[in-house]
Amino acid sequence: MLAFLKQYLKNPRTVGAIAPSGRGLALKMMEPIDFDHARCIVEYGPGTGAFTRELVKRKRRGTRLILIEQNEEFYRMMRDKYDGKRNISVIYGSAEDACSYIQRAGVQYVDYVVSGLPFTSLPKDVSIRIFKATRKLIGKKGRFVTFQYTLIKKKFFESYFRFENRLFELKNLPPAYVFVLRK
Ligand SMILES: C[S@@+](CC[C@H](N)C(=O)[O-])C[C@H]1O[C@@H](n2cnc3c(N)ncnc32)[C@H](O)[C@@H]1O
Repeated sequence: MLAFLKQYLKNPRTVGAIAPSGRGLALKMMEPIDFDHARCIVEYGPGTGAFTRELVKRKRRGTRLILIEQNEEFYRMMRDKYDGKRNISVIYGSAEDACSYIQRAGVQYVDYVVSGLPFTSLPKDVSIRIFKATRKLIGKKGRFVTFQYTLIKKKFFESYFRFENRLFELKNLPPAYVFVLRK
């Protein structure tokens, strides 16, 4: 909690929230994922690991999980906890460059991109680069699972993705929508 608040005070636009997501939202983010068939899951912006914890619990042993975190403090936390264990890699960098990281990791298919990124506060050009990279990564069959506290950016998402589903988690502070998107 404290580590998160400290990073928010240093980087409000990229951290985007004063506290990590609650377990209710993390569970809601897991709902669209078919863990039996996922070969590779990429997580953008794991922070202190609210979604990562649930992904690690549920994923099959053979499923690759690749975490991309831009904040050095959070990257170190995730690296120390997960890197090299149970088919998990932790990358220090921006989701804007996800395609080159995934290519370097030798991955051919990404079934799910799970995002904790604060698209409402990120600069628009950064979000656009991330959306374009994500479209390439998920191809025709993958899904992009992301959350938003409001529907303000819905049209923006719709200019890059098709909405497959929208879920809502009331037991989060603040309550949040989960968007399930396709190319
Ligand atoms: C709102 S926090 C979410 C953290 C965690 N997923 C959660 O839900 O508690 C946003 C996270 O995205 C990271 N982030 C922001 N911009 C990023 C980028 N371009 N690439 C990768 N991570 C980024 C931040 O450092 C932070 O860890």
